[in-house]
Amino acid sequence: MFKDRIRLASLEQKVMTAGQAARLFSDGMTVGMSGFTRAGDCKAMPVALAERAKQETLRINLLTGASLGNGSDGLMAEAGLLAKRSPFQVDSTLRKKINAGEVLFCDYHLSQPAEQLRAQGGRPVDIAVIEAVAITEDGGIVPTTSVGNSANFVAQAKQVIVEINLSMPVALEGLHDIYIPEDRPNRQPIPITEVSERIGQTTIKVDPERIAAIVITDAPDSPSTATPPDAETNAIAAHVVQFLQGEVEAGRLTEELLPLQVGIGSIANAVTYGLAESSFKNLSMYSEVLQDSAVALLDSGHLRFASASSVTLTAPVMNKFMDNLERYRHQVVLRPQEISNHPELVRRLGIIAINAALEFDIYGNVNSTHVSGTHMMNGIGGSGDFARNAHLSIFVTKSLAKGGDISRVVPMVSHVDHCEHDVDVLVTECGLADLRGLAPRERAVKIIENCVHPDFRETMASYFERACQRGGHTPHLLEEALSWHLRYEQTGSMRETADAAV
Ligand code: COA
Repeated sequence: MFKDRIRLASLEQKVMTAGQAARLFSDGMTVGMSGFTRAGDCKAMPVALAERAKQETLRINLLTGASLGNGSDGLMAEAGLLAKRSPFQVDSTLRKKINAGEVLFCDYHLSQPAEQLRAQGGRPVDIAVIEAVAITEDGGIVPTTSVGNSANFVAQAKQVIVEINLSMPVALEGLHDIYIPEDRPNRQPIPITEVSERIGQTTIKVDPERIAAIVITDAPDSPSTATPPDAETNAIAAHVVQFLQGEVEAGRLTEELLPLQVGIGSIANAVTYGLAESSFKNLSMYSEVLQDSAVALLDSGHLRFASASSVTLTAPVMNKFMDNLERYRHQVVLRPQEISNHPELVRRLGIIAINAALEFDIYGNVNSTHVSGTHMMNGIGGSGDFARNAHLSIFVTKSLAKGGDISRVVPMVSHVDHCEHDVDVLVTECGLADLRGLAPRERAVKIIENCVHPDFRETMASYFERACQRGGHTPHLLEEALSWHLRYEQTGSMRETADAAV
């Protein structure tokens, strides 16, 4: 029936329903599922497993590439299936469970889980569940719209379940480049010196004996939720473009820039759109996720090549991408996240990394993950992989949140994901602070002048001045450093008089 999808005849007998495949799982198992930023996630098995967990005790340790679509994380969390979850998520139901302490969440740099699994030796994943376009004659799994950790899960799993998704065009075959680094201590350098280089295979090789089940599905990926640019995100994009133009004028970059990594979220998406309005040409991208804006840059001719681990697009852009795969396949490659985010490659290629922050402080420390220092938002994702090793590490954010009650520039961040040493440039709609070569006291002056919203600038300047009087290399008033967060918790606003809110 599915001859072009299951090309190894001996595997046809493994086709079963998701409900039947769900019987292969038992309580306490470690499960690795495909899926990265809502792309290429399994569509049937999360539902079937959640159903089982509603009937009987079944709790698993779930690893993925990154976030899942189709509300799967919420569904599995609601059913009580998830004991532990890593390395990333964006689901509001799961987030509530994590913050209530009902699901344990391990927040990892996205390049690292593959290495951690490998270090455990043996096959630490009980079952890998991988969405695929097809299984080839020689037992090669053709991934769909993401690679994520799928190749590593397959390599490390005792059993593999393949979800063949009939809605994913067979033409996706060939888009992927599967490469797994050798074991230590004899590992060789990863041989990528240019973003478009292909160094691996187009499929994930698996011994067909380890394929325990094949489930047929036909649901598409969840569309991207990135909101379109607004006045503030456009202003942020304009500051970034102007800064990069300055680098070109100063002779530090050419008009091709260096390979770009652009993080997730609406602000990062807007910054990429901003590049389409610029004079830069022949750009390249070495990133994690391709959003709508990357496809727009490919179409406008600004971008010559994009390397990523997934494509996460809105429905119309996804349709266009799928309809024109023959054109895009020469300009796009999808890699394992271990490779798309590898520090060795980020450093070698000289990536310009642009990521979004929840908040940053006057010395340049960035919080990407914890609201008010305690409550998980999404996770660190790949932002740290890139920020620490980039040629230029840029963080962007709007200066205010929650209708102006929150200043996203604060005296001291309530949680640190990216320390001051990993941050070169900070940008809000108010302006840009180039922190390169600056000492902490110089950084604070730049950030307060350029990035803090005018409503909070005076209060922040006063904090810094009083802290300097007390002294120190990185002056702070420890009793006041987190007082803005405390005030928000107690009054619902960081403003000194809440009724002065805009
Ligand atoms: N305190 C409290 N809440 C805050 C806040 C702050 N300092 N800053 C933002 N928020 C809230 C916003 O109000 C918004 O809430 P809402 O959904 O209820 O409206 C939410 O957090 C998201 O903020 P938003 O401004 O829309 O940010 P975004 O879409 O640009 O995403 C991150 C920003 C940091 C959440 C996102 O980039 C992320 O998950 N980063 C970590 C992963 C990563 O960087 N990966 C990059 C490699 S691809």
